[in-house]
This record gives sequence, structure tokens and C-alpha cells, in this order.
Amino acid sequence: MNLFLGLLVVSLGLGVKAQDGYATSNGGTTGGAGGVTTTVSSAAAFQTAIKSDTPKTVYLKGPISLSSQASIGNNTSIIGVGNTGIITGGGLKISSKSNIIIRNLVVNKVVGNDALTIQRSSNIWVDHNEFYSDTDHGFDYYDGQVDITHACDWITVSYNYFHDHYKVRSLIGHNSDNAAEDTGKFHITYHHNHWNNIHTRTPAMRYARVHSYNNVFENVLSQGIHARTYAQVLVEGNVFVNTSEPVSTYGFVIPDDSPVDPEGDYEPDGFANLGAANDFGGGKNNITKAGNFTSVPYSYTLTPLANVKAYVVANSGVGKL
Ligand SMILES: *[C@@H]1O[C@H](CO)[C@@H](O)[C@H](O)[C@H]1NC(C)=O
Ligand SMILES: *[C@@H]1O[C@H](CO)[C@@H](O)[C@H](O)[C@H]1NC(C)=O
Ligand SMILES: *[C@@H]1O[C@H](CO)[C@@H](O)[C@H](O)[C@H]1NC(C)=O
Ligand SMILES: *[C@@H]1O[C@H](CO)[C@@H](O)[C@H](O)[C@H]1NC(C)=O
Ligand SMILES: *[C@@H]1O[C@H](CO)[C@@H](O)[C@H](O)[C@H]1NC(C)=O
Repeated sequence: MNLFLGLLVVSLGLGVKAQDGYATSNGGTTGGAGGVTTTVSSAAAFQTAIKSDTPKTVYLKGPISLSSQASIGNNTSIIGVGNTGIITGGGLKISSKSNIIIRNLVVNKVVGNDALTIQRSSNIWVDHNEFYSDTDHGFDYYDGQVDITHACDWITVSYNYFHDHYKVRSLIGHNSDNAAEDTGKFHITYHHNHWNNIHTRTPAMRYARVHSYNNVFENVLSQGIHARTYAQVLVEGNVFVNTSEPVSTYGFVIPDDSPVDPEGDYEPDGFANLGAANDFGGGKNNITKAGNFTSVPYSYTLTPLANVKAYVVANSGVGKL
């Protein structure tokens, strides 16, 4: 009997996929643990439910449609119910807040804004969500997918599915001249995420310390993982398929992605370290500077490289908690 229970606990434990990475630092990220739990199914109820700073778990039984970014308060968990946690338009915002968990949501087609904006905030776990738009509208019609700027810290982005987007995903670090605010910040872990049909920024980072492991990148047109302006990235156990430039530390920002110069801008280079073997799939890296960010303060288990693609494709996105 004891043996049976033990095995059951072990197998449940594996299925649950506990939080890990940098979100476990600085006291950890508990979200709404210990607070009230509500289930909402309208945009208005959702916006009201997520706003306060007191601990709460909000289950979203959507779909809902937002007309502006919905702001999330401190100590909040937002969890989609089954495959219904769908948010179209508007997007989500975390600004000067902490201790927030976002899981099992689909955020799509946020015109003129990020799907999720995180600024001046810490201890955030973004897990098992799907972010998508389309690539029919050019570079800036939709903004980023998960943009993390202005001195954020202690964040884990895991098991998300990012697809069909131009300027995907994360920009980390607001601007190249934001050193005073950003230096020493942005400890962020990305693991077991799946990117597909993306233009660039998977992620692009400035000043950050990013640990990127066991992610799958497919059909990334230009710069993939891009460390610029003194950012340091540790890249290991990732799989790249049809990705022209998997890892770059060269400070050049491609013209499409350049805020200033139509010919592209130059920022200072970043730094990259390659840890456990990656599969670059024939893509050509441009690693101009090796960094000194070669280990992280938390423990983690790498998925064997040969299993990464199948495992991540099967386990990222919604309905997989
Ligand atoms: C919410 O969190 C932020 C960031 O940690 C903090 O500055 C603010 O005081 C908190 N607000 C409340 C009401 O606890
Ligand atoms: C709520 O959040 C604030 C700011 O992050 C934090 O100081 C406080 O401990 C949290 N409260 C609970 C009950 O988690
Ligand atoms: C490779 O990716 C590009 C987008 O970056 C896409 O246009 C092209 O069709 C892909 N090639 C294959 C063989 O999938
Ligand atoms: C790689 O970086 C060097 C600078 O060290 C630059 O001259 C070169 O053009 C870059 N290559 C690509 C393909 O961007
Ligand atoms: C790591 O490299 C950065 C960038 O060159 C440098 O500022 C920092 O002092 C280095 N840290 C150590 C411990 O060598």
C-alpha cells in the first residue's frame, strides 16, 4: 500500500510540473496561494477580479474579448479553465507589481499592444500559455508577445507556445540607454517553450541574465536569441529548426526591428555562453563575445537533447497542466 501511494505521488508530481527557474528566487512566486478563488466568464468580471493586491486565484472560463490591456494586481494567479481561457485583443499588463502566476491562457491578436507587458515587476511565472497573432500585417501592427522591461526581475517563462507573430516575444530591456534602471536586473529563465513562425526576438534582451534551456525554435526568420547591450545569456539543450541565426550577440538590430534607423541600429554587443549541447539545425550563430554567466543558482534537469523537440511540442501550450 505504501509503495503504491509512493508511486502515485511520484507520478502526480511529474505531471504537475512545479515552478522552477528564477521565479523561485527572491522568496519564490506563490501568486494567489491562500487567498480567495473565483471563476469568471466575462471581460468585465475578469478585469475586476484580477485588479486587487490581495491574494486571489482567478479561473477564466472564456473566451473573452478585451478592448484595452487588463492590469493584474499583486499576489494573483490567473488560470484558464480547460481550453477556454482565451483572451482576444487588449492583452494583459503587470506594472509595478509582484508575485503573479499566469497559466493556461490563450492570448491572441492584441492589436497595437503586447499580449503581456511586464514592467518594474518581480516574481512572475508565465507557464503553459499560448500567444499568437498572424504575420499578415507587417512588423508593428501587433507589438510583442511577452515584453519584459524596466528593471523587472525573477521571472520564469516555461512551457508556452508562441507562434505566428512577427516581432515575437520578448523584448527584455526597454532601451539601450536605460542602464541606470536596468543594470543587474532581468534574471529570467526560459525553458520548454515552443516558438514557431516568428520573425525575431526569441527573446531579444538588454542588460539581462537569461537562462534559455530546452526550448524549441522553428521557422525563425532572423535573429533568434539575441543578447545585446551587455546582456548575458546561457544557452543550452535547445533545438532550432529552420532558424537562420539561432544565437547572436552582435549588437546590430535588423532594419525591420530598428526603432531608430531604417538601415538598422547598432547597440553594444551582448555575451553568450553555450552550456549543454544545443542542436542549431544548420543555423549560423554570431557569438562575438563569450560571457561569464555559466551557471545558475537553482537546480534544474535537462531533457535529453534527442527528446526535446517531441517533448516540448507535446507539452507546451494550453490544456497541458
Ligand atoms: C504591490 O507590489 C508592489 C511591488 O512589489 C509594491 O510596491 C506595492 O506596495 C504592493 N502593493 C500593495 C498594496 O501591497
Ligand atoms: C502580497 O504582495 C505584497 C507585495 O508583493 C507582499 O509584500 C505580500 O507579502 C503579499 N501578501 C501575501 C499574503 O502573499
Ligand atoms: C523556414 O522558415 C521561413 C520563415 O522564417 C518560412 O518562410 C519557410 O517556409 C520555412 N521553410 C521550411 C522548409 O519550412
Ligand atoms: C557577425 O558579427 C560581426 C561583428 O563581430 C559582423 O561584422 C558580422 O557582420 C556579423 N554577421 C552577421 C551575419 O550579422
Ligand atoms: C562578467 O562579465 C561582465 C561583462 O563583461 C562584467 O561586467 C562582470 O564584472 C563579470 N563578472 C565577473 C564575476 O567576472
